[in-house]
Amino acid sequence: MIKEFLTERGEPGFHLVAGDASYVFSVVHGFLIHHYCGPKVSDDDVEYLMVQVHHDSTVPHPADVAEDWFSCDILPFECPGNGTGDYRPSAVSVSLAEAENAFSGTTATEVRYVSHEIVKGKPKLDLQPAVYADDDEADTLIVTCKDPATEVTFLFYYTVMKELSVICRRLVIKNQTKTKQPLDVLRAYSACIDFANIEPQAELLHLWGTWGRERYIERTPLMHGSLSVSSTRGASSHHHNPFAAIVTKDTTEESGMAIGISLVYSGNFDITCDMDPFGMTRLMAGINPIDFKWRLEYGESFVTPEVVIGISNEGLGKMSRTYHKLYRTHLCRGEWRDKERPILVNNWEATYFDFTDEKLLEIAKTAAECGIEMFVMDDGWFGTRNSSDCSMGDWWVNEDKLKCGLPKLVEQINDMGLKFGIWFEPEAISPGSQLITEHPDWVMQIDGRAKSLGRNQYILDMTREDVRDYLFDVMADTLSTANIEYIKWDFNRNLTEAGSSILPACRRQEVFHRYVLGLYELLDRLTTAFPHVLLEGCSSGGGRFDPAMLYYSPQFWTSDDTDAIERLDIQMGTSMVYPASTMSCHVSASPNHQTERVTSFKTRGDVAMGGAFGYELDLTLLSDEDKAMIKKQVADYHKYYRLVNHGDMYRLILPTDTVNGKCGKCAAWMYVAEDKSEALATFVVIRTSIHPVYFLKLRGLDPNAVYVDEATGKEYHGDTLMNAGLNLTKEYKDGESAVIHLIRK
Ligand code: DGJ
Repeated sequence: MIKEFLTERGEPGFHLVAGDASYVFSVVHGFLIHHYCGPKVSDDDVEYLMVQVHHDSTVPHPADVAEDWFSCDILPFECPGNGTGDYRPSAVSVSLAEAENAFSGTTATEVRYVSHEIVKGKPKLDLQPAVYADDDEADTLIVTCKDPATEVTFLFYYTVMKELSVICRRLVIKNQTKTKQPLDVLRAYSACIDFANIEPQAELLHLWGTWGRERYIERTPLMHGSLSVSSTRGASSHHHNPFAAIVTKDTTEESGMAIGISLVYSGNFDITCDMDPFGMTRLMAGINPIDFKWRLEYGESFVTPEVVIGISNEGLGKMSRTYHKLYRTHLCRGEWRDKERPILVNNWEATYFDFTDEKLLEIAKTAAECGIEMFVMDDGWFGTRNSSDCSMGDWWVNEDKLKCGLPKLVEQINDMGLKFGIWFEPEAISPGSQLITEHPDWVMQIDGRAKSLGRNQYILDMTREDVRDYLFDVMADTLSTANIEYIKWDFNRNLTEAGSSILPACRRQEVFHRYVLGLYELLDRLTTAFPHVLLEGCSSGGGRFDPAMLYYSPQFWTSDDTDAIERLDIQMGTSMVYPASTMSCHVSASPNHQTERVTSFKTRGDVAMGGAFGYELDLTLLSDEDKAMIKKQVADYHKYYRLVNHGDMYRLILPTDTVNGKCGKCAAWMYVAEDKSEALATFVVIRTSIHPVYFLKLRGLDPNAVYVDEATGKEYHGDTLMNAGLNLTKEYKDGESAVIHLIRK
């Protein structure tokens, strides 16, 4: 709901009510001044929250505002301009280009209110991925502002979800300058929230990582000055996820405030949290201004990626469940959004590059016997690719390896009752490939500068239409030769020497963003042309696991580290924002190939069951006992599919939590059906201790209902399970797990 009000000065104000959350701002002397963002408040006009104190003479005042307290350096803004009195990090900065006049080349930018309108639903602004909503699910406030000097126009979009505590923000910059000259956009953050009333000892929570260790949760106290999580790698990256949350020191999974900011973007991003000497805290998210400049001709618009603000007053758990629901139902799209995902077996960790059609057929045969539903042929099936140093771009079948050819292979696998999926890394090109010989200019490069190799390969210039056409055609051809029902879209290196031979000098800093737009365009074309194909994203594991990629691929390979114990941190961190249905998780071999850790088949299955489930090992080498275990896991996956993928997720114990000394180290989480009729809790002991005592306090149950433990038939009251806990005390060994299914009586 969007409530409008008039401030004491007679200027417009807005109270956006999204689910249980409020977001309030108003116009003050033409500036958009932020009042409040957080759990719901009843007052529309919380203008009193504005900091109206007199400051020392060092702070500047706008020329046309007489009131002494009004300084741009102090006030909370919706979109802080640049170089006109606010010395904190600015959200926008534009510069007039080419023709010479007083403003040309200067970066001062001011944002002043002109008008506003409210529309039903959520307008689709461009091709970039964004949350979608029907007219009865959301309202959108569009505020138009201008820079008074240059008349550059800024449109602020605020979409307010009715049922969920979510506000989506975007900024559009239009070149409607008086002089009609081109302008350069230098900074264009999608959203800024200036918290005036932040709790003392607030913290920033974010998800950091590296290859094989993605999305670890870190909380750090805010400091005077800037904290930033960002990427300059050309992808959202393993290193920082485009997400952060402001929490208080005592925010837990169950209680306290959490305000998340999640950027729907796959490229260079920045999330900055800046605290000034007065405790005013600015949280901004958007395209990273480093190596970014966008030329806008007169009449053109620049649309920023979307920011999704998720607000909770019931801790991190509720914030996560809000994102899960939104992203599962209003960001993921297509036929596979709600369909039960097939259990797959992928041959990567089974064979790496060393396979033949016969070997693949053997694995597929065992898979079919165990009830697995899809076979995925990973890297190594094309060109002459027997190692990572060749053939990227040469997307034709290696008939030395697949002697029967692709159509015949797929046919045989289909005949076993399995679907067939295939791996591509479309954005890559190898030195020595036929593609590079024919199109050396298709490589992302700067003429006269040596090109860095990453995983022995270069990157294609995705800003070029001809490159995208080639990739579409070659993938479409492959898909049309056989009954291929799944693609794993990999991306194994980041951008360097980011240059495109088709861009003029004044547009060369557009290349990172244009790359991402090119990627989206190709993904859009492919998913539109092949709506039945399930697309799984991948980037050396989870190096591009971001909301934007989920718009095209409803599941993403979570990490190349498939060790069940390592996966506890990775999957828990990923669950901070992303639902189970988006996290691809496989049972792999033991000892694990990445860590050499030995874990039981059961534990590997229990952990992988927390996402889009599959296997990634040579099934032909398994014992009968393990094969029997696969049959059970397959049955469990189907049995619990709805509960895990559509239920509410609760993180009960994080691996990093210090558990009561006598319990060693463990992790636990659970899913509860929306109507609370059943729940599934998973408990993993990472490192046991002497005579451990485990009471697992469950969450989200109906306190007044009685639940039956399906395995033992024992009955428990919901309130007892949540307040006293489930008694799991027994001598668990390191790495042992337990899964408890509770059904309401
Ligand atoms: C990286 C992926 O994350 C792996 O799963 C596998 O597909 C390899 N690339 C293949 O090169």
